[in-house]
Amino acid sequence: MEKAQIQELIRAAFAARKFAYTPYSRFQVGAALLTKQGKVYTGCNIENAGYTPTNCAERTALFKAVSEGERAFSAIAVVGSMEGTVNTLVTGPCGVCRQALYEFGGPALTVIMARTEEDYIVTTLGELLPYGFGPANLAGN
Ligand code: THU
Repeated sequence: MEKAQIQELIRAAFAARKFAYTPYSRFQVGAALLTKQGKVYTGCNIENAGYTPTNCAERTALFKAVSEGERAFSAIAVVGSMEGTVNTLVTGPCGVCRQALYEFGGPALTVIMARTEEDYIVTTLGELLPYGFGPANLAGN
């Protein structure tokens, strides 16, 4: 991916992070998911008083996209930090989100974990979820 395209996706993730609903952890996450056709779906984390219903930013973006007919994705950018702070660590997708993304993105999905528009790591879902279990497994391949 070109740097300009990466930075555009990071910007979209930061914009989505503003909507994070995080009264419990105060940790705010934004994600921007790029379809193979070039459309961007964004998401934020949405917490819950019951804790377990909390939805991560990545899955919010993924479910928004899939629920609108999208199935093919090329990249996702993720940004996260405590409310009102600049992040020191990059935020990688949690294990559940890696699995959810694997269903549609597979190992080739580009994953951008960013601190700022200038400071980010670009990797793949295959690196983050080696030997991932996906649709091919159930197809007997
Ligand atoms: N969270 C995400 O939204 N994405 C991640 O990749 C890591 C964790 C959220 C879930 C919860 O609302 C808060 O961050 C703290 O775990």
